[in-house]
Amino acid sequence: MQWNFQEIQQQARNDAGSIGNPQELEAFRLKYLGKKGVVADIFAALKSAEPADKAAIGKGAKELRGLVEELLAEKSGGVNAVKTIEEQVDISLPGTGGDIGHTHILTQTMKEIITVFEGMGFVTIETPEIETEFHNFTGLNIPIDHPSRDAFDTFYLDAEDPSSKGRRLLLRSHTSPGQVRIMKQHKPPMAVIVPGRVYRPDAVDASHSFMFHQIEGLLVEEKAQFSELKGLLTEFCRRFFGPKVNMRFRPHFFPFTEPSAEVDINAEILGIQRKKWLEILGCGMVNPKVFEAVGYPKGKYKGFAFGMGVERMAMLKYGINDIRLFYENDVRFLKQF
Ligand code: DAH
Repeated sequence: MQWNFQEIQQQARNDAGSIGNPQELEAFRLKYLGKKGVVADIFAALKSAEPADKAAIGKGAKELRGLVEELLAEKSGGVNAVKTIEEQVDISLPGTGGDIGHTHILTQTMKEIITVFEGMGFVTIETPEIETEFHNFTGLNIPIDHPSRDAFDTFYLDAEDPSSKGRRLLLRSHTSPGQVRIMKQHKPPMAVIVPGRVYRPDAVDASHSFMFHQIEGLLVEEKAQFSELKGLLTEFCRRFFGPKVNMRFRPHFFPFTEPSAEVDINAEILGIQRKKWLEILGCGMVNPKVFEAVGYPKGKYKGFAFGMGVERMAMLKYGINDIRLFYENDVRFLKQF
């Protein structure tokens, strides 16, 4: 018999011992079990073997095949390294989760402001960003020669106002036209806030933008008083900025309120070192001319109104020093809030 099966088996074990990667594993399989492999050779030789040797050769070949199969199974576990999910993942580690977005800091600030006023009984109404000259100016007692009506201070559309021949539509320059719209549609008593975008053709810098957000407030009933306006806005500032806020009402002029005031808050208390007092809103008692413009009976109602810039409020509350940060959508900024 030309085969020394013991030697061949030993050779197979040695070969298997040096397998280090899947390619070597496959080469090993082919060497012994392939079509032209050792086992196939032995079986092929079986035909011409001496009859007396046939049984031993057949047995040797089968044993060799069994051994190689065993070695292959043993080796493939290590080489192919098919790990179970438990081996690959340490399930005791905290999960990473997906990146979930969140509301923009301006939206958050709007919601905070709205929540305070809704908590005091105000109802939120949104009115259009594309407005008529009547709602944005005339109805608010802003005279025809007022500088804010100038084409350099307001974005006018090409489209003509369907309700007023020769007058063009515009992008509202403040949320105050909401007052006119709402009063035209509803009878007092009412307490509403109007949040939204406003537009002015300002050059963009750290404190100006051609688009920003305002929140308008309006309360109308038969006996509204300035002292109530003061109380309301004082309580608002305490709830929004915290109980330690220090504020002042400073006389001012607005065509649509009489008397009018601006509210400043003391920036030192907020930990901001620039100017001591910073203006945060305009307010006043609704001018009777506005009631007249919306068709309310003369002398029947009193009301007060206020308007504030949302960006300004957010900048003061959260220490943001550049208005452009709100619109650039840099996630490093957005993620901070
Ligand atoms: N509309 C004014 C502005 O944009 C802000 C304002 C002032 C609103 C006084 C009011 C108000 O309702 O009473 O500058």
